[in-house]
Amino acid sequence: MPMAFPATRMRRLRRTGLLRDMVRETELTPSHLVLPMFVELGSDSRTPIEAMPGVSRMSISHAVEEAGEAHALGVPAVLLFGVPAEKDELASPAYDDEGVVQLAVRALKEAHPELVVITDVCLCAYTSHGHCGVVREDGVVDNDISLELLAKTAISHARAGADAVAPSDMMDGRVGALRVQLDAEGHKETPIVAYSAKFASAFYGPFREAAGSAPAFGDRRTYQMDPANADEAVREALLDVEEGADVIMVKPALAYLDVIRRVKEATRVPVAAYNVSGEYAMIEAAAAAGYIDRRAAVLEALTSIRRAGADVVITYHAKDAAAWLQ
Ligand code: PBG
Repeated sequence: MPMAFPATRMRRLRRTGLLRDMVRETELTPSHLVLPMFVELGSDSRTPIEAMPGVSRMSISHAVEEAGEAHALGVPAVLLFGVPAEKDELASPAYDDEGVVQLAVRALKEAHPELVVITDVCLCAYTSHGHCGVVREDGVVDNDISLELLAKTAISHARAGADAVAPSDMMDGRVGALRVQLDAEGHKETPIVAYSAKFASAFYGPFREAAGSAPAFGDRRTYQMDPANADEAVREALLDVEEGADVIMVKPALAYLDVIRRVKEATRVPVAAYNVSGEYAMIEAAAAAGYIDRRAAVLEALTSIRRAGADVVITYHAKDAAAWLQ
């Protein structure tokens, strides 16, 4: 009697297309994707971001159009970053009710009421020095003063109609501070998508060009995490859940798939993973050079992030991926 194929190889199943699809373990559909967008002031502008081919900073009118296209392809949500006209030491355009994000949220919700609009809550694009919080005279980022301003920013976004706020600053205690102050201002139903495990990563390079948020001095290593630490990521995530986070986020995604898995298993709450600008840029650059197949690489990367345990994937490839997955 010849020996049968070992069943684990699933070879017979894969040969039958239908069965292959039925037994696939990980699903990637447009409904898992979030499209990040950079919104700038101005009436009719699209400013391409050099290190992110295919991605532009957009005026509100263009953002409304772009979000509408993504939504029509089945992408349920966008994540907004504002590029303000002015910056100052206290990031005041961040919590201005007529600021760029606030105006964009109103326009997006009016044009596409069914689109989920999430706002990034951070100060780095709004501070003259580019740090994510308020810098004291001694050059140190003051955690507690920063919390006040971050909470004001989140409240202002919620008041404009944001469906969820996503603090990305990594100050200590920010999720709790935001929750308490959102509740006090009548925004009890606004969820917090917390960037819980945000690593001090070289993969944010292109984003800093896009958002004009590179720090003028120093770096973010005092408040962002050491890429070597996964236990710490789990602790941060558990703390954020305790403070009231509704979704926790791991960022970047591809170099941190193990962290996504561990955070998911430790918390069992919805997990989002941010496939960041540098990860986007790598695929685009390699594909443009003809070194890899763009479509296959994008879908493989996004599927891997889902397989690692992410419920939601935030990706600049959301529109293309959604179109391919139709
Ligand atoms: C702001 C923020 C950053 C990103 C998202 N929010 C940059 C940073 O921390 O320097 C990066 C996103 C990306 O690279 O796509 N704190």
